Amino acid sequence: MKDKFNRNINYLRISVTDRCNLRCVYCMPAEGVVPISHTEILSFDEIMDVVRKAVSDGVNKIRITGGEPLVRKNIVELVRMIAELEGVTDLGMTTNGILLPKYANELKKAGLQRVNISLDTTDPIRYKEITRLGDIDLVYKGIDAARNAGLQPIKINCVIKESALEPDAQLVAEYCKQNNLEIRYIREMDLENGRFWKVQGGDGGDCKTCNRLRLTSKGMIKPCLFSDLEYSVRALGATSALETALNEKPKRGTISRKNNFSGVGG
Ligand code: 5AD
Ligand code: SF4
Repeated sequence: MKDKFNRNINYLRISVTDRCNLRCVYCMPAEGVVPISHTEILSFDEIMDVVRKAVSDGVNKIRITGGEPLVRKNIVELVRMIAELEGVTDLGMTTNGILLPKYANELKKAGLQRVNISLDTTDPIRYKEITRLGDIDLVYKGIDAARNAGLQPIKINCVIKESALEPDAQLVAEYCKQNNLEIRYIREMDLENGRFWKVQGGDGGDCKTCNRLRLTSKGMIKPCLFSDLEYSVRALGATSALETALNEKPKRGTISRKNNFSGVGG
């Protein structure tokens, strides 16, 4: 589907939960977010209504995000339902990797193709500082599990303050080189103050070529991460929420007071 500015919108990112088993300093407060109640969170049926409509309109690329998507109950079933849809040619997930040893094989069997795994340093002490809770060995086990399951390519998302030359980022670059992993540098964003950047090594954050819509775990279709525009699937129905989001997709992002990474999934 084309938006008003002739951009081809073929990519839907789905946040399946706002919860996470980590508390990265740039993403969440130390005490975590007040979890969305079970009635507020979209059911798999409701998610699939949106996905089916989006795919019938030309979306072929889908990414499952969170929060941490692997903490959502029965996530493998959702992956299976999406993978079964004709027209989905690229199905990925963004995860912190901690639960991949448990799920990588099942996810692959269900039809997940690839994963992006978040890793901002290889220094175990710094990793614990950044994520507040994380044990870096579990991430390495997760990366191994993804590789062994045949999820590929595995990309590493590395959040940087300003530059890929920062010590933590250089450690991750070295690790990726040694382990044949693709790295993407994501400069820390401040949505509220309108500070956002292009993803180095990826295609996010470039308004001119933006090809995506987002679905939040509360059922809002968001046409832009850097804007507060959102259209409720429950209030409008999947068809109209998607159509309106497409028509209202801004030419470029500005600021967002409401969006946060744990709810929208980056
Ligand atoms: N700025 C940039 N990226 C962020 N993420 C979370 N918070 C931020 C932020 N403030 C991204 C990271 C992480 C993914 C889950 O969300 O890339 O890997
Ligand atoms: Fe969790 Fe990812 Fe946010 Fe870290 S950045 S707290 S891993 S959702």
